[in-house]
Amino acid sequence: MGAYRDFHARSIEQREAFWAEQAELVDWHRPFDRVLDYSRPPFAKWFVGGRTNLCHNAVDRHLAARGGQKALVYISTETGAERAWTFRELHAEVNRCAAMIRSLGAGHGERVLIYMPMIPEAVFAMLACARLGAIHSVVFGGFAAASLAARIDDARPRVMITADGGLRGGRPILYRPMYEEAIRLAKAPPQKVVVCNRGLDPELSLVGGRDLDYETLRAAHASEAVPVEWLESSEPSYILYTSGTTGRPKGVQRDTGGHAVALAASMKYIYAGNPGETMFTTSDIGWVVGHSYIVYGPLIRGMTTILYEGLPIRPDAGIWWKIVAENRVSVMFSSPTAARVLKKQDPAFLRKYDIGSLRHLFLAGEPLDEPTHRWFAEQLGKPVIDHYWQTETGWPILSSVPGVEATRVKFGSPSFPVYGYDLKLLREADAGEAGPDEKAVVAIVPPLPPGCMTTVWGDDERFVKTYFGTFRDRQVYSTFDWGIRDRDGYHYILGRTDDVINVAGHRLGTREIEEAVQAHANIAEVAVVGVADAVKGQLPLAFAVVKDPARLATEEGRLAEEKAVLDTVDRQLGAIARPARVHFVNVLPKTRSGKLLRRLIQALAEGRDPGDLTTIEDPAALEQIRGAVGGKPD
Ligand code: PRX
Repeated sequence: MGAYRDFHARSIEQREAFWAEQAELVDWHRPFDRVLDYSRPPFAKWFVGGRTNLCHNAVDRHLAARGGQKALVYISTETGAERAWTFRELHAEVNRCAAMIRSLGAGHGERVLIYMPMIPEAVFAMLACARLGAIHSVVFGGFAAASLAARIDDARPRVMITADGGLRGGRPILYRPMYEEAIRLAKAPPQKVVVCNRGLDPELSLVGGRDLDYETLRAAHASEAVPVEWLESSEPSYILYTSGTTGRPKGVQRDTGGHAVALAASMKYIYAGNPGETMFTTSDIGWVVGHSYIVYGPLIRGMTTILYEGLPIRPDAGIWWKIVAENRVSVMFSSPTAARVLKKQDPAFLRKYDIGSLRHLFLAGEPLDEPTHRWFAEQLGKPVIDHYWQTETGWPILSSVPGVEATRVKFGSPSFPVYGYDLKLLREADAGEAGPDEKAVVAIVPPLPPGCMTTVWGDDERFVKTYFGTFRDRQVYSTFDWGIRDRDGYHYILGRTDDVINVAGHRLGTREIEEAVQAHANIAEVAVVGVADAVKGQLPLAFAVVKDPARLATEEGRLAEEKAVLDTVDRQLGAIARPARVHFVNVLPKTRSGKLLRRLIQALAEGRDPGDLTTIEDPAALEQIRGAVGGKPD
């Protein structure tokens, strides 16, 4: 792999020359004065003084050469809707939406919260914000009221754009109860709420003076054009909240110029997609994968992007391959959980359609087990590339980079450090470099490359402390993942070093789930851990101590209490965070200083050896956990 090794080496050793070259992949309204300002480590400013705009690069820039090419294809197997927008039509739609947002008083630097299902208006709204220089904060539609309220209070959006509901497996999930409750809970709720009415909520009512109907507002701005706001490269483009060790999600802030360049380069080198081709990413716009590779990445590259609302197995397990065949998809991006779901279906579906156009299938978001990786590659007869990254980085950290060189894939491995990342595997104890096959912390020597988070929204100190504070004597970025490198230089990710769990590719903080459980009045104490699951990777499991045990006296009472706790989590955080079970115990295992021993609980719940038990204060607590899980995982 000489070509790729050289490419990577140059990106680190001649960092500025390398990225100055990549910056030519996007349009600049004003050229930058300096490639990198790293005068205040670990804060990196890329393309200083340059002015650009993400919406211009994703939409306007393509009008001359490909105005009539499809930009956005929307397919909903939930409603049966199918519609396409050319770049020219997308341009008109984004202008309308920008005019709508502007009319509500949100412009350059203001925040706009987008709480929407997978509908085209969500994409219009994101691009419209980018056009105006407004900072979008997209909140995943699966999050419930308390999560939404916390994100409102942190970002203080002037406007919220939402819908009456989403659909999942034909079942409507109404948003109004969620956003109404969130607005009630929030200290600084948005003054204006734009609602897309999909006809899902018969009781939908708009609040006078606050709420506006999307279609009505759109009609009022149908022929307006809004000029692009040219932003200085370091100005924020968006905030996206993600979970960590604490119960309070962090607002990952991304810049404008570095973000545009990083995504443009990744589309060329990693995803190896060409202008005029089609990309199909099966994520949700509420997650970073949706931001980078449903919306911005493919459009910046001049590719058609597919927005899919629906499940991978409905109407049948052939639906994705039908989409690939009918739209001549050349790049596809999905998740290991989806792969494991498909693996349980009839493999004939994988051969039913002509997927000859497909060049690569990329998977990310959670560990991809070796058998599933092998199965998928063999069944598809295409390269299946596992790649590893995070909300914080916005684009891949470890991957095969076929646009530079086609290297051999090892099943179960996301291959090598991506260009731009000076990646190290560091021993937890002393930050020394680990040898081959030695488990260590995956770290990145700063400056982080373009496109990575620039800070935590409104909290520079938290950014430095959280991400660069793992090792006492060395300021490096910690991914909070364990990894190893084999003798051939292939990397493997072995799970998180913190209390973050990954359920079907959704990143959740166990502390957040614990806080949601505690919102139930009868809960005195709770520990939430992630346990291995054959399909979803991990599932949250709760162990709770109640204030009033009398309610648990009968089996009926216990079941009712468990259901009440689960419903509380649904209402607070959302059903994605719902524990698989709530086990009631009398005491939780803790250290003498009162620290919860989550790792020990997790080991017991997974039927593993819990290891060193000397730190535990009350050994009886262990028996409680063992008893609750029946000695084995559920
Ligand atoms: O633990 C790693 C896991 O997912 C985390 C990041 O999740 P999120 O911020 O939601 O970003 C997802 C972007 C694709 C990581 O810290 N993770 C992600 N990809 C992989 C992975 N674990 C193993 N293998 C992967 N390919």
